[in-house]
Amino acid sequence: MSTVPTRFQTVARIGDVTEGAGIPVEVEGRAIALIMDNGQYYAIDDHCPHQGAPLCDGMVGEKTVTCTWHGWRFSLEDGRWLDSPRIRIGTYPVRVEGDEIQVAVN
Ligand code: FES
Repeated sequence: MSTVPTRFQTVARIGDVTEGAGIPVEVEGRAIALIMDNGQYYAIDDHCPHQGAPLCDGMVGEKTVTCTWHGWRFSLEDGRWLDSPRIRIGTYPVRVEGDEIQVAVN
C-alpha cells in the first residue's frame, strides 16, 4: 500500500508576512492566503465563497479571518464559516524550514 507524500513548497520567507496580516501566494495553481495570527502561520483558500474577495486582505485575529467585503468570518484552523457550518473553505499545512515558509496542498 502506498500513500501520496505531502509535498511542501516554499511560498515566502520569514518577514514577508507580518503579524495580523496575510499575503497572496500560489501553490500548484491554487490561490492561497498565507496569514500570520499570534505568531502562527495559516494557509487557507484565498477566495471568499460569498462573492470572491481575497481573504489575504481580511482582518485577522483570534484564529479567524474576516472578509473585508461583507464580514463573513472563517476559522484559520479548519476553514469553517463561523456563522454557519454549511460552508468550509480549504486549509493547508504550513511549516517553517530555516527562513522559508512552506505550504503543502496535497
Ligand atoms: S465576498 Fe466575502 S463576505 Fe462577501
